[in-house]
Amino acid sequence: MFFRSLCFAGAVSAAFVGNLNYLSPSRHHASLGVSIHRVAKRTHGTTHWDPSQLNFTHGVASGDPSEDSVILWTRAAPTNDNDASNVTVSGYVPLYDHSTEEYVLSSNAPVCIDWKVGTSETLEKIVDSGTAYTSSDIDYTIKVEAKKLRSFTTYYYQFAICNSKKKSPIGRTKTIPSSDDKISKPIKLAVYSCSNYPFGFFNAYGNPVRKDSVEYVVHLGDYIYEYANGDCSRISVLTCQVHVGLYDYRKRLATYRTDLDLLASHQKFPWIPVWDDHEVADNTWRDGSAHLNNTEDSFISDGGVSVDQRKMNAVRAYFEWMPIRQVDMDDNLRIWRNFQFGNLFDLIMLDTRQYDRSITDVYWNANYLSDIYNDASRSLMGPRQEAWFYRTLKDSSSRGTTWRVVGNQIVFSRINSSISLGSETPFNYDQWDGYQANRNRTFHTLYENDIGNNIFLAGDSHASWVSDLVWLDEHPYDPATGNGSVGVEFAGSAVSSPSPAGQNVTLAEAQVASEYFTATNAELQWQDFYYRGYYELSISHERVDAAYFGVPTTTVRSGAEISLANFTVMAGANKLRRHNGRAAVGGVVESGSLKGGNFIPKKILFDSETKEWHPY
Ligand SMILES: [Fe+2]
Repeated sequence: MFFRSLCFAGAVSAAFVGNLNYLSPSRHHASLGVSIHRVAKRTHGTTHWDPSQLNFTHGVASGDPSEDSVILWTRAAPTNDNDASNVTVSGYVPLYDHSTEEYVLSSNAPVCIDWKVGTSETLEKIVDSGTAYTSSDIDYTIKVEAKKLRSFTTYYYQFAICNSKKKSPIGRTKTIPSSDDKISKPIKLAVYSCSNYPFGFFNAYGNPVRKDSVEYVVHLGDYIYEYANGDCSRISVLTCQVHVGLYDYRKRLATYRTDLDLLASHQKFPWIPVWDDHEVADNTWRDGSAHLNNTEDSFISDGGVSVDQRKMNAVRAYFEWMPIRQVDMDDNLRIWRNFQFGNLFDLIMLDTRQYDRSITDVYWNANYLSDIYNDASRSLMGPRQEAWFYRTLKDSSSRGTTWRVVGNQIVFSRINSSISLGSETPFNYDQWDGYQANRNRTFHTLYENDIGNNIFLAGDSHASWVSDLVWLDEHPYDPATGNGSVGVEFAGSAVSSPSPAGQNVTLAEAQVASEYFTATNAELQWQDFYYRGYYELSISHERVDAAYFGVPTTTVRSGAEISLANFTVMAGANKLRRHNGRAAVGGVVESGSLKGGNFIPKKILFDSETKEWHPY
């Protein structure tokens, strides 16, 4: 009997440990994370869920591919609702409550899941498989690492409720090349940011799925928005409040994960995401956000939750729900990491938001920031991440990788808005413009080490900005030719978040605003305020091609999209390729302002559902 009990306890632990979400946010300090021992003990030898009570409630997802493994995600639950355990505790007890009574009273058994990975959609030849548990403690989420995979290979995966025929949808995923692979074909990415559910349907996520046009998805943050904003019609049956607790963040992520185009993207592509501010709160920095300061006054008036606790709630829900690896199990804020795509490129993903950012613009402090924004001590990343970033740039160059692609939240290039907006403070201190010293150290690293072929990606701004990468005031730059640049920045619009020029801005008004900006910012070659959308990158040793797409509507679900503008960066050129003296392919764009040129709309859109072209 004793022997049998021990065996059973061992098996339980293995299946719990197989779910990475039980290990997050801290594997090595049980008091800071989930006590697997307590969960296993509570669930030991109890009755099991009837499979008919359980459902795969939010599809499947994969992410953070490496050369031989990938993260697989699903949720298997007796409820669509999220676990309401929101207890924050203090003193000597663990941070996470395990008295999740509502579900524990129904059954304190864990949900048992089998998973498998194969090389074909029929899943005949299985290359890895396993069993894992989940429970209300982690909101019934399941995150496993599929191993034993070959590099740069497509796989299919599926979950099933143990001892039943109940199965999840089949997902598709792909590993990345190993670091010494010689890549001969272009690698294609779709790049996203800023999906705001109340503001519309996530059509932009679905279009590459229907076109099957990319291999990986990069998300630069604002995957969710935490606040109530405008019309909440898309979430009429769900919470529409500013949220601060663990349940609120889980609920918000779960709500977003009902959008059919988002579900489709997760099912078909491995994602490489980072968070921006709204995964936690508006304009977050290390110790606060726009609407929550680390003060007693703010604590009392802004929800009765501390900055640290709110961030921890948000981060925990994010790790539960996103197909992402926790890079360092003793550092639950670290999501900055690097992906080596063979000898073709490094994808360096930064966290300029939550990890260790010096104070940002929280709306009441603009004058203060205009005094300090150039301080050498200011950092978007904190010293540990900054040192890693510069070292990774240097390592990437010295190992002979052709490109360095930097996935970062906020616009890197200097954007002076003083003339166009009549603003007293010409810069957006919430972007790199508020952290000049950090940007100077980045440029210094590139110049000192003669590092070229740099492609910076950005989101956050809800508008499109394409610039040569220029150290203004330090290195001469010719906007006509691009000479003097060390790379290119592609900053993308939003999946659905409204334009900074106004939610209901007209095409003509947006055009005027775009022309102001390209006229007053030397390195800004194309700008568009009007369209929501995304862009695709095709990366080869010879060139990087960027294709910007706009969606004509987010008010209804639609597969329509418009090709807005295309750009090319030739290897070794370190600037946008000019066509007839202009920086866009063909010297023309469909929308927005191209420096030195006019936009010439073709007025044709592509329907990714029907694969037909239509006038618009
Ligand atoms: Fe955003």
